[in-house]
Amino acid sequence: MQQESVHCGVGVAERNPPPAYDGAVESRAAADSRAQLVRWMGIVDANSAGFVHGGTVMKLCDEAAGVAAIKHSRCRVVTAAMDRMTFLQPVHVGELLTFSASVNAAWRTSMEIGVRVDAENPRTGEVRHTSTAYLTLVALDEEGSPTPVPPLRAETDDERRREAEAQLRRRNRLAEREEIIAARARGGEAG
Ligand SMILES: CC(C)(COP(=O)(O)OP(=O)(O)OC[C@H]1O[C@@H](n2cnc3c(N)ncnc32)[C@H](O)[C@@H]1OP(=O)(O)O)[C@@H](O)C(=O)NCCC(=O)NCCS
Repeated sequence: MQQESVHCGVGVAERNPPPAYDGAVESRAAADSRAQLVRWMGIVDANSAGFVHGGTVMKLCDEAAGVAAIKHSRCRVVTAAMDRMTFLQPVHVGELLTFSASVNAAWRTSMEIGVRVDAENPRTGEVRHTSTAYLTLVALDEEGSPTPVPPLRAETDDERRREAEAQLRRRNRLAEREEIIAARARGGEAG
């Protein structure tokens, strides 16, 4: 029998893991799921210091990542994790932010999406790279359970590099999780 668990208000059936992708749909090229969002930053996006709020940038990264993940999987998706978010430079009110998202790697039901954020001062035309984010999104079927996604076809050197780096981040993430579970089992050394 299936049991319902709830994560962030979304019910997910606990069940046996879904099978590997069955190949019914062919692999999808990384270039086919690229997505871009462009937003102008206004007063409502500012924090008390007068710069654009980090949370605004994170939310828009999540949106851009969601579009890329849907284009790759052709399913509805949820964000499982935001693995990394860097803020390299502050963003100013009045700047135009471009969020460029691409699927870096696809596993069984999850995908890593990389999002690059560039800020443009529309008065001077100066463009600065301000943030990079890596998110893991999971494809869901009609019942809300994780469902297999098409394999990713990395066709350029950049796409192959991004895929290799995404594999490294996943290996590190899983190794960290294993280490924490083992430490807890030994008596809570890791907190
Ligand atoms: C993400 C979610 C669907 C995973 O459900 P689950 O029951 O753990 O499913 P599984 O164990 O089968 O894992 C499914 C995939 O998610 C990945 N995953 C699960 N938790 C993860 C995490 N914290 N970080 C990265 N990947 C994760 C698994 O590695 C697996 O990937 P794979 O199939 O490619 O190997 C579920 O936790 C969920 O619905 N979370 C809430 C999502 C949400 O509401 N997001 C919006 C923000 S609140």
